[in-house]
Amino acid sequence: MPVLHNFDEIIDRRGTGSLKWHYSDDTIPLWVADMDFKAAKPILNTIERVVQHGVLGYTKPTEALYQAIVDWHSSRYGLLLTKSDILFSPGVVPSLALMMNIFTEVGEAVLVNDPIYTPFMAKVEQNDRTLVTSALKESDGKYQLDLVDIEAKIVEHNVKLYLLCNPHNPGGRVWTADELKALLSICKKHEVAIVSDEIHQDLTLNGHTFIPFLTLATGYEHNVVSLTSMTKTFNIAGIKGSMIFAKDEALLKKISQQQQLNDEYELNLFAYEVMRSAYEQGGEWLEQALDYIETNIDLTVDFLAKHLPDIKVMRPEASYLIWLDCSAYFEDDQVLYDTLRAAKVELSAGIKYGAGGHLKMRLNVACPKALLIAGLDRIHTAFNSMNGHK
Ligand SMILES: Cc1ncc(COP(=O)(O)O)c(C=O)c1O
Repeated sequence: MPVLHNFDEIIDRRGTGSLKWHYSDDTIPLWVADMDFKAAKPILNTIERVVQHGVLGYTKPTEALYQAIVDWHSSRYGLLLTKSDILFSPGVVPSLALMMNIFTEVGEAVLVNDPIYTPFMAKVEQNDRTLVTSALKESDGKYQLDLVDIEAKIVEHNVKLYLLCNPHNPGGRVWTADELKALLSICKKHEVAIVSDEIHQDLTLNGHTFIPFLTLATGYEHNVVSLTSMTKTFNIAGIKGSMIFAKDEALLKKISQQQQLNDEYELNLFAYEVMRSAYEQGGEWLEQALDYIETNIDLTVDFLAKHLPDIKVMRPEASYLIWLDCSAYFEDDQVLYDTLRAAKVELSAGIKYGAGGHLKMRLNVACPKALLIAGLDRIHTAFNSMNGHK
C-alpha cells in the first residue's frame, strides 16, 4: 500500500527564515522554485535517525549512497554511472561557477540561452568571462533552440563553453534527443565544452522524456559535464547538496583538483544521508507530487484561459514553473511586477532571466490548491486593476 502524502496541507512557513515567505503581511508567494510541501516521510525519518544517533562528526559519502545515485540514474534514464564518475558539490550554482575555471580562461566567451535562470548569466560575468547569449525562439507555444544562431555566435565569439539548461528554466522545455544531438554536433565541430544543468530532470511531466546529456556524449566525454541534485526533486533546497557527473578520467581529476583548491567537495552529514534516502525511498512521494503538480498546472491553465485569456501561457514539459506572457496587458516590467505585489501576490519577474523575459512572469504552482486558487484570484484582481488592456 502506498503511503499517501497530503499535498493539500497548508503549512505556515512565515518566521522560519524561509526565502520564499519573507513577508510580514499575508502576501501569497508564487515565485522562487521551492514547493510548499513537506518533505517525503523517509527523508524526515532519516533526519530524525541521524539526530537520534546524536554524533554529528566529519562524514564522507558511503558506498550505499553511491549505489543509490547509480541506481536512480540507470533505472530512470539509462544513464550508466560508476562511483568514479560522481563528485559532490554544495550546489549546482557553485558548480556552474567552478566550471568557468575548468573550461575557460578569463575573458573567454561562454554561451547561454536567453531567457535563462539568472545565475547562468551572473556566474559568467562575475568570473570575468564574456557572456554571449542566444535567444530561444518561440513556436507552437514553446521554446526552441536557434541552432543557426548558436553556431554563428560560437564562431563569431570563439565560444569555449556552452551552459545548457535541460530541462530549461524558465519555460520548462525538456530538450529532445534530436535537439540535443544537433547541439552536440555543433559543439563538437567547434570544440566547445558543454555543461548541462539537469537539476529539473526528475520533475519531467507526463508525455515527455528527459535525456541526460552524458548518454549522448560518447566520444566527446572530455568536454561534457552534467550537474544535478536531489534538492529540487524532493523539495529540500535548504539541505544543500548536488552532484557533478563526468565520464572522462582526466576531466574528473581536473574538476576534483579545482574543488580541493576551493575546499568545495564535501557535503554535510544530513545532505549525504538525505540524498541516499531520497534516491532509495523517495520515488513514491515524487510520483504523487508530480501528479499533484500536473493537476495544479491544469487548474492554472483553465483559470487563466477563462479569466485572463490574453495571457499567453507556456505549459511546462518539466517543473512546476509556468511562464506567462503578459504583454497584452502591460508594457512596463516594473509596473507588471509592482501591480502584482500591490495585490499581495509575488511572481518571479521574467525580465531577470534576460531580454527574452520582457513582460513575462514565472508562476510557481507547487503549493496546496487552496493557496494557488487564492493566488490566482489575486493575479486576476491585479490585472483587472489595470482596467483591462494597456
Ligand atoms: C536551472 C537551475 N539550476 C540550479 C538551481 C539551484 O541549484 P542549487 O540550489 O543546487 O545551487 C536552480 C534553482 O531553482 C535552477 O532552476
